[in-house]
Amino acid sequence: MELNELKKAFLEAYNHEAEKVYFSPGRVNLIGEHTDYNGGHVFPCALSFGTNLLLAANNQKALRFKSLNMPEIICLPLDQLLTPLPDNSWVNYPLGCIAQYIKRGFKLEQGYDILIWGNVPAGAGLSSSAAIEVVTACAFNDIFNAGYDRTELAKIGQLSEHEFAGVNCGIMDQFASAQGKKDHAIYLDCATLDFELVPVKLDGVKVVISNTHSPHKLDSGAYNARVAECKLAVEQLRTVRPNLQALAELSEVEFEDIKSAITDKVALMRATHVVGECQRTIDAVAALKAGDLTKFGQLMNASHVSLRDNYEVTGLHLDTLAEEAWKIDGVIGSRMTGGGFGGCTVSLVRDEAIPTFIEKVGAAYFEKTGIKADFYIAEIGDGVHALAD
Ligand code: GLA
Repeated sequence: MELNELKKAFLEAYNHEAEKVYFSPGRVNLIGEHTDYNGGHVFPCALSFGTNLLLAANNQKALRFKSLNMPEIICLPLDQLLTPLPDNSWVNYPLGCIAQYIKRGFKLEQGYDILIWGNVPAGAGLSSSAAIEVVTACAFNDIFNAGYDRTELAKIGQLSEHEFAGVNCGIMDQFASAQGKKDHAIYLDCATLDFELVPVKLDGVKVVISNTHSPHKLDSGAYNARVAECKLAVEQLRTVRPNLQALAELSEVEFEDIKSAITDKVALMRATHVVGECQRTIDAVAALKAGDLTKFGQLMNASHVSLRDNYEVTGLHLDTLAEEAWKIDGVIGSRMTGGGFGGCTVSLVRDEAIPTFIEKVGAAYFEKTGIKADFYIAEIGDGVHALAD
């Protein structure tokens, strides 16, 4: 939607004009899956599509929220901003961020009207919720004059997800939405939050996102179970490595040596994925920097296999898209991206192979699942920002 259409929608909803407009993107992760909450590296990039937030002060002593995807306006008095709304209301994503500011001692002296619109497909594993969180964190950073940097905005978004959405996620999605840069991926060390922006303008190759449109979205129960299984693996490894804080601290060789301390079979599989994926991510970024795309693609494929077999977060829909992609000449690599269970795959595809890729993968996927997949050529965009009037 164009900016002037959004401003018109704001005026129609609230009978006065928007004063500020912000944007924050969705993300696609190239490699490093389920490593963030284990202290490992990730390698996501921000997308050119995301969420817009428009706002203006009102004289209501309340915050009013409207999403252009929902019919109603939700009105919350200023003294009722610290508790999530029932029934997984979408308002919990922005509200959770505002609550973080209030908990830190910032006070809202007046009410605001807020309008949100986004074009990240919901439930596609492209971080539509992180985009809402980070755009809200950024807008209220200005309102409160808090002076937080982008990393702090990402942390506010992550806390909102933990406390108001009940998902114990890592920092990757919010970090990518906050710190993204056009034509770059973010090589982030989730243990220290040090990061490097790595150029991903690939000659004759595109990043293609394939959407399963699978009905099984990442549900918070299955995600939180994985987080708990990794924690159990660390606890059991502490019997032989008392100082171990996170799985990412172990090299593959060290892990081999001590993994028998993990007596829980499932926890052992999860840890095997994490330790391998941490190394793959480091190797993949080194390969990309050295111009070795073939190696990068092989590591993407290996990442998918491990997410399928050890982490068990793929399933028929994601597996079909990835496995069909691997069969096509000109596909450098393909894997699921994000939390898993449904959502999207990410593939590196040579320009000349893209039409065949879309046709063949789409047809095979439809034959197996009865669902029409969607394909997008990803444009890597900038992180959260205010838009000029
Ligand atoms: C979801 C979470 C992230 C990360 C990925 C898996 O997107 O929000 O923090 O754990 O899953 O890599």
